[in-house]
Amino acid sequence: FNVPDPVNEPINSYAPGTKERTLLQEAIATARAQEVDIPMYIGSEEVRTGNKLPLTPPHDHKHILGHFHQGTKEHVTAAINAALSAKDAWENLPWEHRAAIFLKAAELISTKYRYKLNAATMLGQSKNAFQAEIDSACEIADFLRFNVKYMTEIYSQQPPVSPKGVWNRVEQRPLEGFVFALTPFNFTAIAGNLPTSVAMMGNVVVWKPSETQIYSANVLMEVFREAGVPDGVINLVYVHGPDAGDVIFKHPDFAGIHFTGSTGVFQEIWKTIGENIHVYKTYPRIVGETGGKDFILAHATAEAKVVSTALVRGAFEFQGQKCSAASRAYIPKSLWPAVKELIGKDLDTLKMGGTEDFTNFINAVIDEKAFDKITKYIDRAKESADAEVVFGGHYDKSTGYFIRPTVIVAKNADYETMQEELFGPVLTIFVYEDEKWSETLKTIDQTSIYALTGAVISQDRYAIEEASHALRHSAGNFYINDKCTGAVVGQQPFGGARGSGTNDKAGSMINLLRWVSPRTIKETF
Ligand code: NAD
Ligand code: ALA
Repeated sequence: FNVPDPVNEPINSYAPGTKERTLLQEAIATARAQEVDIPMYIGSEEVRTGNKLPLTPPHDHKHILGHFHQGTKEHVTAAINAALSAKDAWENLPWEHRAAIFLKAAELISTKYRYKLNAATMLGQSKNAFQAEIDSACEIADFLRFNVKYMTEIYSQQPPVSPKGVWNRVEQRPLEGFVFALTPFNFTAIAGNLPTSVAMMGNVVVWKPSETQIYSANVLMEVFREAGVPDGVINLVYVHGPDAGDVIFKHPDFAGIHFTGSTGVFQEIWKTIGENIHVYKTYPRIVGETGGKDFILAHATAEAKVVSTALVRGAFEFQGQKCSAASRAYIPKSLWPAVKELIGKDLDTLKMGGTEDFTNFINAVIDEKAFDKITKYIDRAKESADAEVVFGGHYDKSTGYFIRPTVIVAKNADYETMQEELFGPVLTIFVYEDEKWSETLKTIDQTSIYALTGAVISQDRYAIEEASHALRHSAGNFYINDKCTGAVVGQQPFGGARGSGTNDKAGSMINLLRWVSPRTIKETF
């Protein structure tokens, strides 16, 4: 068997006057006019507990989009049981049938569900139309199609050598037990990818999304069910994270976790798994993509316009709530006045507001907790002798969690916002003396407890080579003469090391191989 060679899903622009823009606006209006009632999905059941919690747009927190039914530890146990009951039939289904189901899911996302899913991401997670298109419609379709391709390559690998009279072969078995997919709020595509990439390899899954992504998770589940994912293969529960963990990490059939989220949560989970290691039948697979403090470094030979565009797009698209977002930058003193002027001009043009108005570039941050965390850093910078807020610094949560794109200049390269992840529209810049280029490379590396994305901008080949070498452990995705965001599935496999994760590269064969356990068979004739 061979599957079609995947191509990246074409991106709609939603430019004024296009048919796609009208269809998306209609989907948004329909979603706003309804109050959806969102159940959990456990086995063949849609579970409504009656403990209903509201879902609101981050940019319009008085509007109710609907409610979800909050579950308890008992629902997590029920989800594990449903998964284990579905396991035998699912893992014995020939892999080309699993491939067909996930290819169909990709097709449904790119056609029938495209506008509904984008509208859900725009309203539920406050992304503008173009960002939702890239995140929900295109990236999840890409994940599904490329992963199916990698999956077929895994199942079609060359067998080992067999001497005369012997047949050696390797069987790619699913893991023994169930896998926990624990997903973040910020990318609908990541939330969809974590359970499906595991399930594709014949595994059964308990999926717990972030509370602030449930609205679009529900649409993804609708797609997976319509595509033919059998009951019990992916079970979707809405349970407080620590409660879910309390059941999952003590279960003997726990076979792995596919996580994306913050570094602190992942480290706690790893500790808990370690403490319970004697409970499990098998060593669980631990795959996690976590936080970042992603950087852009400009060399004195860089063009000011290239640098300012990379900074504004890298730091402020998606409200800076992208794991890859640029949140620290190192700019040579000779270039800084020109870069600063251009950033100021760009920021003046960026409109902020709700996602329903397609002219707004900046939308709201996800919730009050994120708003309070980010604005505390901004307030401290306003007061600090070690920092200066040069752009933005304004915020307002009266109708939505709005924060103006903010640029801080730090006097020291170890200032708190040069090192800690804020996960919001705040960029901190350290201006270095041009002749201290090599020293700056060392500073970046030594202050990088994270290592997710980074970029160097330069017209000097030797400087590029020096940076690429000195920073080879400071980023899992490294960009030359570009911003540090925008990895595309199938083009730049994504993931970081150090505090940023296990670097199992989402949307790659490396990742899929974590969800199988090979058995070597020697048959003698
Ligand atoms: P988070 O860590 O707060 O939550 C992630 C998931 O874990 C959610 O489902 C949450 O409910 C659950 N959770 C939280 N505490 C838990 C606990 N004690 N036990 C069990 N489950 C728990 O992350 P978030 O705020 O949703 O997402 C933002 C973070 O994700 C940022 O740090 C960002 O850098 C990171 N991220 C990383 C990547 C990557 O590829 N490296 C991609 C996207 C996001
Ligand atoms: N694909 C996203 C980016 O690289 C995570 O920005």
